[in-house]
Amino acid sequence: MSGVIVDIGTGDGEFVYSVAKEYPDRFVIGIDPHHKGLEKTSARTYRKPAKGGVGNALYVLSNVESLPEEMNGIANQVFINFPWAGLLKGIVLAEDATWNPIKRICKKGAFVDILFGYDQDYEENELERLNLPALSTSYIKNVMSPKLEEQGLKVVEIRSVAGKELRDYPSSWAKKLSFGRNREYYYLRLQTE
Ligand SMILES: C[S@@+](CC[C@H](N)C(=O)[O-])C[C@H]1O[C@@H](n2cnc3c(N)ncnc32)[C@H](O)[C@@H]1O
Repeated sequence: MSGVIVDIGTGDGEFVYSVAKEYPDRFVIGIDPHHKGLEKTSARTYRKPAKGGVGNALYVLSNVESLPEEMNGIANQVFINFPWAGLLKGIVLAEDATWNPIKRICKKGAFVDILFGYDQDYEENELERLNLPALSTSYIKNVMSPKLEEQGLKVVEIRSVAGKELRDYPSSWAKKLSFGRNREYYYLRLQTE
């Protein structure tokens, strides 16, 4: 499939770089509000191809809540890998302020793929601060999914993913987490109307 892929909360941008390299027929855009983490990968991305650069990737500094209007209706597929802080809260609590801009940048029938998870015991303070519930397949299916469906997002797939399965996934956080404690993450695939 050709088209535009958007990675929201791209962090150090490695996922964008590696998808752009593997699929030269797609255009890949990484979004994150923090420029510091992006410096190294974006410098590599924008080099000449002979020096490791890729001509089909771009990084945009923005938070999810205020995605640029220029991106309206361009995405064939959106990835959100290991969201944290405000991005995580908006996703899990199905907040309009997060989901409306995501829907706005999507084409009709676009896929939105989310890999996420947190640990109720080890990340208690952050979860309390964000007011997040205990996560489980049942929470995603029975609480989160109906809210997303109400917002016009069809739930295509929900499954749990074990930490060690993340080793080959091309994002930096996937790699970090795959070597930590073995804990459960979730994969959720949605499709826009
Ligand atoms: C745990 S990191 C994951 C980074 C990357 N996706 C990966 O898998 O390596 C979470 C990222 O979410 C970003 N983030 C947090 N709040 C955000 C928001 N409101 N909008 C967009 N990105 C946000 C952070 O800046 C951070 O880079």
